[in-house]
Amino acid sequence: MKITLSHIKADIGGYVGHSESHPDILAKAEECLAKAKKEGLLIDYHVTKCGDDLQLIMTHQQGEESEKIHKLAWDTFIEGTKVAKKLKLYGAGQDLLSDAFSGNVKGMGPGVAEMEFEERPSEPILIFMADKTSAGAWNMPLYKMFADPFNTIGLVIAPNMHTGFTFEVHDVKEHKKITLNCPEEIYDLLIFIGAPSRYMVKAVYSRETNEIAAVSSTQKLSLIAGRYVGKDDPVCVVRAQGTFPAVGEVLEPFTLPHLVEGWMRGSHHGPFMPVSIPDSTPTRFDGPPRVTAAGFQLAEGKLIGPRDMFADKSFDIARQQANEIANYMRRHGPFEPHRLPLEEMEYTTMPQVAKKLEGRFVDLD
Ligand code: F6R
Ligand code: MG
Ligand code: MG
Repeated sequence: MKITLSHIKADIGGYVGHSESHPDILAKAEECLAKAKKEGLLIDYHVTKCGDDLQLIMTHQQGEESEKIHKLAWDTFIEGTKVAKKLKLYGAGQDLLSDAFSGNVKGMGPGVAEMEFEERPSEPILIFMADKTSAGAWNMPLYKMFADPFNTIGLVIAPNMHTGFTFEVHDVKEHKKITLNCPEEIYDLLIFIGAPSRYMVKAVYSRETNEIAAVSSTQKLSLIAGRYVGKDDPVCVVRAQGTFPAVGEVLEPFTLPHLVEGWMRGSHHGPFMPVSIPDSTPTRFDGPPRVTAAGFQLAEGKLIGPRDMFADKSFDIARQQANEIANYMRRHGPFEPHRLPLEEMEYTTMPQVAKKLEGRFVDLD
């Protein structure tokens, strides 16, 4: 049975500030998607949140980039925005960059990760959702899951994974893409994806079966809008077990709270903290950046779940470390590398300050 899983998300209003989603917004989205399921457009759906981002997880048989599905998501965001405006939630409708839907939500603000595949006899899926960071945050975890034998022992000892995986990498500045084969091209891959503000892993494929293994949202809101409109707060969908890494191999990279871009005013480096879904409430200095993981088993397209994967106690030390790193980074205040380099900051006073002090700069001897 061919299934499409579409994950479409947007920040349509925060409660309080940018720290959380209001339950009325989730209830409204639930209502919209329940109707679409009843009418037969969706096989199933799950509505959740990560911080101030509303997450719509949908299964159907309309294929990727379906106008009907994208319109359903868009209309749901519009309905949610009406609720957000009534409650005067913070930044109501902030990710909806256009007034009218034109066939596809890509480039209009919401984040999208979609994959179409033949459902296996058992189909475990992990859906990662992030708040207060950008799409490059998945580069290191995806590399570890699919190319690092120190993370994924299956690459070494499972015959159906030993051939490795193919990475599709997008250059979001030049709007180009390249595919690289691992393990033989890992050094080439790393020179790109080690620069996650520009190069982002969009998808990963099994070389054993050519099947899609993972897909991420690579929208860079700041580039779409040509001005600061909030961090992307990306999502990533990963299939697990069999020819793909085991669930535990997919989760393992998040034991390292690696430094990602985002946090306060989208202009800082901070640790990527794995948390349970209820704990995705970025509060301290509007952060630190969070990642949640919802696990599902698919059954003829039905979403059996979710299991809140990072609620597990084995991520307690990662959280502890993340909070210690947050303390350490915060003590740098307005200095790099806590503050992002000039060209990556999403808030800046540099043009105004430089202009004001123009006449006071004198040549060095
Ligand atoms: C939003 C975010 C926040 C805001 C900050 C300032 O994704 O990361 O840190 O950038 O709260 O928000 P404004 O400019 O809306 O007052
Ligand atoms: Mg927000
Ligand atoms: Mg957000």
